[in-house]
Amino acid sequence: MNNKNTLVVIGAQWGDEGKGKIIDLISQNAEVVVRFNGGNNAGHTVIVDNKIYKFRLLPSGVISPNTTNIIATGVIVNITALLEEIEEAEKNGLFIKNLYISDRSPLVLPYHIILDKFYEEKRGANKIGTTSRGIGPAYTDHFSRDTLHIGDLLDKEIFREKLTYIYNFKRAILSINYELPSIEEIYNSQLNALEKLLEKGIIITDTSKLINDFINRGKKILFEGAQGTLLDINYGTYPYVTSSFTISGGVCVGAGIPPQSISKVLGVVKAYTSRVGEGPFPSEIRNELADFIREKGQEYGTVTRRPRRVGWLDFVALRYAKRINGFTGLAITKLDVLSGLEKIKIVVGYKYQGKILDEFPSSLHILDKCEPILEELPGWKEPLRNIKGLHELPNTVFRYLERIEKELETKIDIIGIGPERKDIIILRDPWL
Ligand code: IMP
Repeated sequence: MNNKNTLVVIGAQWGDEGKGKIIDLISQNAEVVVRFNGGNNAGHTVIVDNKIYKFRLLPSGVISPNTTNIIATGVIVNITALLEEIEEAEKNGLFIKNLYISDRSPLVLPYHIILDKFYEEKRGANKIGTTSRGIGPAYTDHFSRDTLHIGDLLDKEIFREKLTYIYNFKRAILSINYELPSIEEIYNSQLNALEKLLEKGIIITDTSKLINDFINRGKKILFEGAQGTLLDINYGTYPYVTSSFTISGGVCVGAGIPPQSISKVLGVVKAYTSRVGEGPFPSEIRNELADFIREKGQEYGTVTRRPRRVGWLDFVALRYAKRINGFTGLAITKLDVLSGLEKIKIVVGYKYQGKILDEFPSSLHILDKCEPILEELPGWKEPLRNIKGLHELPNTVFRYLERIEKELETKIDIIGIGPERKDIIILRDPWL
């Protein structure tokens, strides 16, 4: 029997499910919040008392004053961007303390950002639509064993030696015309940022040891997923994916913990679907209804402000997400955005070359040609935002929620009915 006190929160779709708000709610009860994947491509928006906080690298637990926050090894860190984010948070009245960063986290260096833009340009019509934060090239360098880690910065001599070797090596194999910043510029920018982070009391350490110690002491730990299942490098809609492990299994590799230390996995499902960037999207809505949902749901990228594509809820994709992540509970977000629609549609299957597909296809060519099989449910007029409890929810909302529970054979723990911290109804404690 697993008696650990850990909860993983995972996006069940293509990211932007509204995880920030759910994580904010849960982190108020957590003693430790851990980011385990991605980098500053992630954008978690949390609204508290009309103040909007946008986090990229910082775990959302920084809003709660007594929480310990950890950026674990699976996260790639642009430390100048991290410093800027902390300074911005401080301007917003937050005091960032108890923040630990893994010494094994790979660095995102200035040339990774240049390369990200360069690759996208060269991909032309096949571009992925990345966030241009250098994420792909930084993970690539990590896997090809040609990058630097935060721990390297702690010894100036080692840092200079490794940076000089890697920089010259990269220059030799890159035949691009872009001006790369010099070794000296990179050396100084990284060490300046590090110095300022250390002055703020941020600790660079072996976070796997720290997290495992916390687990063994029975601490309540929230693992905060970034992006979503369908953006996972292995199980997402490759190549239109990010470069990290966004699924629940990513916690083990990203945080350095054994699988049996994971107790619960909460899947965050937006009441409809959205995706930013390129790639197939079978449930996409291609008429003016998409504009209505986009505006109402403010579906614009947190990091890039790009308009997001929107679609109906997709059960084929969600069953796949359940299979891969092992959700023990669900959070259904942004139900209020669908208020005012007479009918709500759900994709219950895909049709490909006249045949019905029950499983989400691995081949992007097949996915691209899948036609959605739609089921229609009645909508609701009520705005939902000021609803005080379950008893005030329209019956049609219940029907929609029951349909999701039945299809995914998973209980709904939380529903989101508006952007504010208070616009949430808890049905079950996701930790239990
Ligand atoms: P990258 O992570 O910047 O390489 O971008 C790869 C793909 O993942 C692009 O389609 C991005 O729009 C998408 N992506 C990356 N981070 C997020 C996120 O936090 N939310 C939603 N999409 C994301």
